[in-house]
Amino acid sequence: MIYKYSQIESAHKNLKARFESLEDKKQIFKDKQLKELFGEIRNINPDERSGFGAEINKLKNEIQKWVEDSQVYSDNRGPIDVTAPFDTNVTTKPKLFRANSGGIHPLTAEINYILDIFYRMGFNALESRQIDDDFHMFESLNFPEGHPARDDYDTFMTTEGFIAPAHTSTMQNRALVKYKDNLEKGEPIAVVVPDRVFRNEDLDATHEHTFYQVEGIYVNKGVNVGNLIAVLREFMSEYFGQELKAKIQPFYFPFTEPSFEFAIERPDVLRKDDSEDQKWLELLGCGMIHPNVLKMAGIDPVKYTGFAWGNGIERMVMMKYGVEDVRHFESANLKFLRQFS
Ligand code: DAH
Repeated sequence: MIYKYSQIESAHKNLKARFESLEDKKQIFKDKQLKELFGEIRNINPDERSGFGAEINKLKNEIQKWVEDSQVYSDNRGPIDVTAPFDTNVTTKPKLFRANSGGIHPLTAEINYILDIFYRMGFNALESRQIDDDFHMFESLNFPEGHPARDDYDTFMTTEGFIAPAHTSTMQNRALVKYKDNLEKGEPIAVVVPDRVFRNEDLDATHEHTFYQVEGIYVNKGVNVGNLIAVLREFMSEYFGQELKAKIQPFYFPFTEPSFEFAIERPDVLRKDDSEDQKWLELLGCGMIHPNVLKMAGIDPVKYTGFAWGNGIERMVMMKYGVEDVRHFESANLKFLRQFS
């Protein structure tokens, strides 16, 4: 409805907005702006008073109708549909929760921040999946059947052989296949995959069965270990907001050759003293992508080389903010979560 008098029209707009956000709709009758409108009658030119008064009544009736509509349920209620996203028996339009009732989860916010850094470095992002197969979890990553390193990943598996991915490396083959045409065009494959992974873990302050990793994949002509270190070091310095030294030491993964553990200099906020064992923080696994992994994606390992890495996201976020227990993230504890908003 449109009102002739501007005071009434603007009150109408404001009242409607407040009405939408009220939990107890009847409270709208007590709204200050509505009451003040009646007081306004005195200030109106006497000839116009009755017209003005009539409009206020119209508005009151409209508000009455809003309240009634919000309370009405259909007389002939159908059965309850528990699979519908709202109560299908309510005749008024379904309403979404007010946006200010919620917030972005700290892990989502950090993942977005991590992605921002990689976008700026020229990487694309892909999503992983929450159910996968043996080929992507193991075969395509150079773990042949019966390979002992398969046991290092405490993998959840259904009796039919479906797998809840235990790392984001399950996306390596897909990313390589999807972007391999880049190489012909002289462009690199540069992809990050932030997503959930699942492991059959005993839970404690530093172990969760469900957590996040970010995988990185970079392939081009002439890529070497120096490039790997430079990219990771640049990322970590940006993430922790401080120029950091990095070092690598040999490790073993079936899908990289050589394989490394990557460590950064412990950021100042996390350093207790100057002792040597306080100096480095091992953060992630990485290496030069194994020729067999490239071959399985149809990429010639003689022509192209690349590096990959995978790191746990919670661990980085815990370090950055001084979170002492990983289980807080999934606890739905508002006191914890609101500290990040
Ligand atoms: N997928 C490994 C894990 O979860 C981490 C990893 C190591 C990923 C080396 C890589 C890599 O891409 O090259 O333990």
